[in-house]
Amino acid sequence: MSKINAFYAQSGGVTAVINATACAVIETVRKNRHRIANVYAGHNGIIGALTENMIDTNKESASTIAALRHTPGGAFGSARYKLKGIEENRAQYERLIEVFKAHNIGYFFYNGGNDSMDTAHKVSLVSKHLGFPVTCLGIPKTVDNDLPVTDNCPGFGSVAKYVAISTQEAALDVLSMAETSTKVFVLEVMGRHAGWIAAAGGLAGTTPEDPPHIILFPEIPFKKAAFLKRVKECVKKYQYCVIVVSEGACYANGKFLAEAGTRDAFGHTQLGGVAPVVANMVRENLGFKYHYAVADYLQRSARHIASAVDVKQAYAVGEAAVKFALAGKNGRHADHQTCFGRTVSMAHRRGATFTHRQQGENGAAAIHQQRRIFDHRSVPPISAASDSR
Ligand code: F6P
Repeated sequence: MSKINAFYAQSGGVTAVINATACAVIETVRKNRHRIANVYAGHNGIIGALTENMIDTNKESASTIAALRHTPGGAFGSARYKLKGIEENRAQYERLIEVFKAHNIGYFFYNGGNDSMDTAHKVSLVSKHLGFPVTCLGIPKTVDNDLPVTDNCPGFGSVAKYVAISTQEAALDVLSMAETSTKVFVLEVMGRHAGWIAAAGGLAGTTPEDPPHIILFPEIPFKKAAFLKRVKECVKKYQYCVIVVSEGACYANGKFLAEAGTRDAFGHTQLGGVAPVVANMVRENLGFKYHYAVADYLQRSARHIASAVDVKQAYAVGEAAVKFALAGKNGRHADHQTCFGRTVSMAHRRGATFTHRQQGENGAAAIHQQRRIFDHRSVPPISAASDSR
């Protein structure tokens, strides 16, 4: 019988380190060639399987695969694409299994966030139902750091580092200008409904006087009067005010301060543009000159400043996923199982958790705790790392 292959796909918003996970999956499979012959990577995620548009990674040299560890973006293309339930779209699952059968794919490694874990789970159940059992493993990734069961997600650490350093650097700039010019700086960060990235802005300071002076979390309803009062106090006391605002900041009734007006394939509102809203609010009510920045894709693609711990973790979860599949499942005779929780526990657990509640109730303690969790030293810049390409 011909050897079993694996299918690997990236899904959802990419990160600065998702390709390190791809690198780990492919390299670990290559170390186990007697068990898994090849990794086919989906072009644009699961869509690559549905359209039979897959990249034969065996055609890539070891140095090309190794270079993935240092490359941001999603090397094979990612997708926001949700498979419906089998009762709603049986044909789509049949097509998937048809393609898996044609390429003798017994393992499905899906590298994504919450929705991707759902897809991996569905495929694991349905493949059995359709008589072609595939071992499905979800591999965690999201800058938002909001996957259940995980205590931190690959991708987050690098964004946290980028946001903390950018806040610190921009704050020095504003402070230089504050006497005669700019008094307020607003940095907008990602995270959707989770304030982890916003909280990371707090890593910039070591004392209560240090910037950022205000962090607007999505978990804490925005109160305009209290916010403006605090901005005024900060400018009076420190001459300037640095604000980190989460893209998901919202009012008590759940209405976002800003949204782009579009939705993705999962039905999620596209967020973005809160920084100018907040900055204008400050100018209109207090008259202070401001600058603002929307970190947007810069934060999640910033490989030049990626966290070394994050890179290691991203690699570790990919490696663990393959080992887990091989150890527990004995080739293609495996039962179906999603295991991102267990993978994370094995490869990724780093002590205390940092809950959204803590962020709201005790920001300073939470930030201190986060500092302990992450030891984000620089990785070599791309130019240095690319020696091996
Ligand atoms: O889910 C991760 C994330 O980076 C969010 O923080 C952000 O809101 C979203 O993706 C942006 O998604 P897209 O790139 O599809 O617009």
